[in-house]
Amino acid sequence: MSVIILGIESSCDDTSAAVIADGAILSNVIAGQEVHRKYGGVVPELASRAHQQNIVPVVDLALREAGISRDRVSAVGFTRGPGLMGSLLVGTSFSKGFALSCGIPLIEVNHLQAHILVHFIKEPGGESAQPSFPFICLLVSGGHTQLVIVKDHLSMEIAGQTIDDAAGEAFDKCAKLMGLPYPGGPWIDKYAVKGNPKAFYFPRPSVRGFDYSFSGLKTSFLYFLREREKDDPGFIKRSINDLCASLQYTIVEILMQNLDRLARETGIKEVALAGGVAANSGLRNAVAEYGRNRNLRVRIPKPVYTTDNAAMIAITAYYRYLKGHLSAQDVTPEARFGFGSS
Ligand code: KG4
Ligand code: ZN
Repeated sequence: MSVIILGIESSCDDTSAAVIADGAILSNVIAGQEVHRKYGGVVPELASRAHQQNIVPVVDLALREAGISRDRVSAVGFTRGPGLMGSLLVGTSFSKGFALSCGIPLIEVNHLQAHILVHFIKEPGGESAQPSFPFICLLVSGGHTQLVIVKDHLSMEIAGQTIDDAAGEAFDKCAKLMGLPYPGGPWIDKYAVKGNPKAFYFPRPSVRGFDYSFSGLKTSFLYFLREREKDDPGFIKRSINDLCASLQYTIVEILMQNLDRLARETGIKEVALAGGVAANSGLRNAVAEYGRNRNLRVRIPKPVYTTDNAAMIAITAYYRYLKGHLSAQDVTPEARFGFGSS
């Protein structure tokens, strides 16, 4: 009999539900929240309320699209953290109720681990080649930037991480300085395609080990824009393509530098991208080219699996289910939830 997992994701501002059967995707419904756009960032109170409104219709649609009735679901997996507490509470409480009413196991999932495990989602009729262990994953999202050595589905070691802003935050904050809407990452990507990546130079941080830092870049970008705009009003608007291309080039170069060093030092022959910033075309191209130049295997997720989605929660819950890692009904969300072996 198939193992059918219903996955629920509600850690930030996307309400999502997905169904997978034996690791193969059947549905992945994502409801974004437009309400935050006018505030230039996610407003936690509004996010929780929108999750509460969306969760029942989103789960209902995911089950219908998958053609799976509730009584066929083997277990429900949900994001326990990290994330916004109010948002996590909605998904956690819903999942507890769902599991209890169906008499099925409840499975907590770490959101970051889940971003990485998208590489194991099987597409119906698609190629089923999966990464082999160990591989290095560059996990880049709005809240996290980490270099992870993935030893097994549920055993991962963080080799380096940001000591201040995440890469996604750097994109979003710099976009805001240029007057672009939130989240700014995709906008920078869009303008960067038409610009010259060498038009402007921004300093690279010097950080020990495999760690990252992006707050210095944001500050120097701010001062650069202020100066240029003072001398030449309208500079930002006129130079938006070159600014975006140069900024994106700098962020990608910073990310790639440590990835390269880690791959060389460990001798690991396979590298993967994950997280919202993995949707960035500059980063995707850089990783693909890196793989070709160094003869490494690279894994670049489908765009829909880069930003927050419940398919990643469902696939992680599937591997936990196989290992019998179930949760009790008194489990509570963790806004700061570390990961590693579990
Ligand atoms: O993983 P995610 O959906 O949410 C978190 O867990 O944080 O990542 C969201 C982040 C945002 O900072 C957003 O600007 C960034 O991913 N992002 C991008 C692109 N698409 C999303 N950044 C650069 N280029 C993109 N194309
Ligand atoms: Zn995420």
